[in-house]
Amino acid sequence: MSKPIPWFSVETGPEETEKVNQVIASNYINDGNVTREFERRCAEVLGVKHCVGVTSGTVGIALALMAVGIGPGDEVIVPDLTFIATANAVRLTGASVRLVDVEPRRFALDVAKAEAAIGPKTRAIVPVDVNGRGADYVTLEALCKKRGLELICDAAEAFGSRFQGRPLGSFGRASAFSFSANKTVTTGQGGMVATNEDAVHDRLRELKDQGRRHQGTGGNDLHPVLGFNFKLTNLQAAVGLAQLDRLERRLDGFRKRNRWYQELLGDCPGIVLPAVDDNGGEITQWTDALIDRADDVEKALTAEKIGSRRFWLPIHRQDSYKRPDSGFDASIEASAKGLWLPSHFSLTEEEAERAASVVRRALK
Ligand SMILES: Cc1ncc(COP(=O)(O)O)c(C=O)c1O
Repeated sequence: MSKPIPWFSVETGPEETEKVNQVIASNYINDGNVTREFERRCAEVLGVKHCVGVTSGTVGIALALMAVGIGPGDEVIVPDLTFIATANAVRLTGASVRLVDVEPRRFALDVAKAEAAIGPKTRAIVPVDVNGRGADYVTLEALCKKRGLELICDAAEAFGSRFQGRPLGSFGRASAFSFSANKTVTTGQGGMVATNEDAVHDRLRELKDQGRRHQGTGGNDLHPVLGFNFKLTNLQAAVGLAQLDRLERRLDGFRKRNRWYQELLGDCPGIVLPAVDDNGGEITQWTDALIDRADDVEKALTAEKIGSRRFWLPIHRQDSYKRPDSGFDASIEASAKGLWLPSHFSLTEEEAERAASVVRRALK
């Protein structure tokens, strides 16, 4: 039997160990100077003025929304096909969620449908850069300006990718990234909020640190405004810094992997490999496929110990957000057909060939 192929796998090495050991030796394992350095490096990569480290991508979205004043009584538009965290983050602020269908081949929010869904309580839109494909920011920025809505971006899966040449994370008033375990850069759990606005940045720092803008002693500090504790520690940031050193190599690997699958499966009947805008700098973390008989293909891959991952269920079919199916055609179809093919960092061409041949056989 051939070696199992994981769908995805975290990769760390001696660089992470060395940086974590330095933090331990420094005896300052809390949020501190290593967190600041990680924030600076992320801001450089993303081409933004500020980055603020937080405990997760979910919290990042919620704090970004709070930082621009979203809260109870407000409604926020969210795409129906995303990890449920996008919607849950809106709920964390006390606002309510309005689900809207997505584009059938890029899985981003359908902007025309979003515009039609704007109601009297709508205050913000949270588009999602699913698997590194940017939402249609040109249209979204114009729409939000015209209708006086806040634009907060869920870029959880888009670290290092671009939309029409511009880094994802630099659109809207703020963007949130996730450093959970299956992301391009991981800190185990963790997140980062990127913004070009000084006022949003200041508010984010207060929100993540109990209403303090500057780190205090925890004793007789002043807490002029309401905030919470969502800090990213030096230990996590140390891992993140070592991961950032691997970023360019990883992104090159993603491009190569997409090319292999395109050559291997691009002409296979019953499967569509959604386009990636290479020229615009778009890079997908995983190779995705829309497959007519996705269940059969998933089973065939599993039987050969080859990992894959199905797309999410549409959020409107999850118990906390239950709505009728009408109006969610694209999201329902993408969810039924969508499969992420093996995309771990050290995937070899031979492994991609093995996976592709199982896919072809299952679709015969
Ligand atoms: C699209 C999307 N949004 C939000 C999140 C939430 O990020 P986290 O798991 O770090 O809270 C994730 C990742 O898990 C995600 O994939």
